[in-house]
Amino acid sequence: MDANVTDLSALETELIARITAASDEATVENVRVEALGKQGAVSTLMKTLGAMAPDERQVMGPKLNGLKDRIGEAIVAKKAELAEAALEAKLRAEAVDVTLPALKVRQGALHPVSQVMEELAAIFGEMGFALEEGPDIESDWYNFTALNFPPKHPARDMHDTFFLPADEKGERKVLRTHTSPVQIRTMMKQAPPIRMICMGRTYRCDSDATHTPMFHQIEGLVIDETTNMADLKGTLMGFIKAYFEVDDVEVRFRPHHFPFTEPSAEMDVRCDRSGGQLKIGQGEDWLEILGCGMVHPNVIKNCGLDPEKHQGYAFGLGVDRLAMLKYGMSDLRAFFDADTRWLKHYGFSPYLLPGLAQGVG
Ligand code: PHE
Repeated sequence: MDANVTDLSALETELIARITAASDEATVENVRVEALGKQGAVSTLMKTLGAMAPDERQVMGPKLNGLKDRIGEAIVAKKAELAEAALEAKLRAEAVDVTLPALKVRQGALHPVSQVMEELAAIFGEMGFALEEGPDIESDWYNFTALNFPPKHPARDMHDTFFLPADEKGERKVLRTHTSPVQIRTMMKQAPPIRMICMGRTYRCDSDATHTPMFHQIEGLVIDETTNMADLKGTLMGFIKAYFEVDDVEVRFRPHHFPFTEPSAEMDVRCDRSGGQLKIGQGEDWLEILGCGMVHPNVIKNCGLDPEKHQGYAFGLGVDRLAMLKYGMSDLRAFFDADTRWLKHYGFSPYLLPGLAQGVG
């Protein structure tokens, strides 16, 4: 019996030493299987208890159970210690110094189109315009019919429309050719007074240095009971001055035609092209910049409003072109090439968001 007890403490010393020395979980697991597994040394000893005489069992039982418990606890403790050390090492390896100055590790840049949209939102936001949205895939009704394009009218083709395949009802959806359908969506969901802008993607089947199949427009709409053409002119002049950061600007309205406005006009801005650089606001040239007009009574009627009571103006222009004019890019196709050198050169810091107080450029 004494020899047995000595053997037990030798076994315990050996097992504890191996557990303590283990440097990974697999080694600890090996010790566990060798000691406490079905064929393990401790388990095998436990099995001898049944054959012992009662007085011997009374001595050996607690000793063996104690050994089994202590080995078990040592294994659990060692495994926890190793897991903690592994986590600690992982965290150390993945450490990020959050105090590094972010401006110095600038990786990405805001695309000029995003930048200009931020500028436009800031400018028109100051003038009390809310931001609206509409889907890129439109029904023919929103894109054309509600906007007073006559059925089968060639104007629908003039927009070089992308038509989608017909659905079950035979209806052919379109990729919106302009942001004007958002005028309709806004008038149908919100009672006047309305004062909104909408910016987004528009699509026409066209491609050269100044046209891409996908481009961006900004739309403006004001509907109430008194708004007139003079208000339109004042708003647009305020916008041009803020956007191009000039104190004064001369504009002219040329008669034009849009199905959804009457009267319709295109607005030109006084500019100077001499010296190879474009200067807005002064000079001998004119720059065509946008389409606008008073909302056609039929459009107001199509939205369920009374044109005898409600009136207002709308305008629309290309965001990409605005970006090109202000920041000096000459080829629109480069906007959508995703060339990182171009993006790096023309991109903007995402940390310097435009606002009228600090300037929008
Ligand atoms: N939707 C017109 C276009 O794409 C622009 C426009 C908008 C004209 C609103 C007048 C009023 O050409």
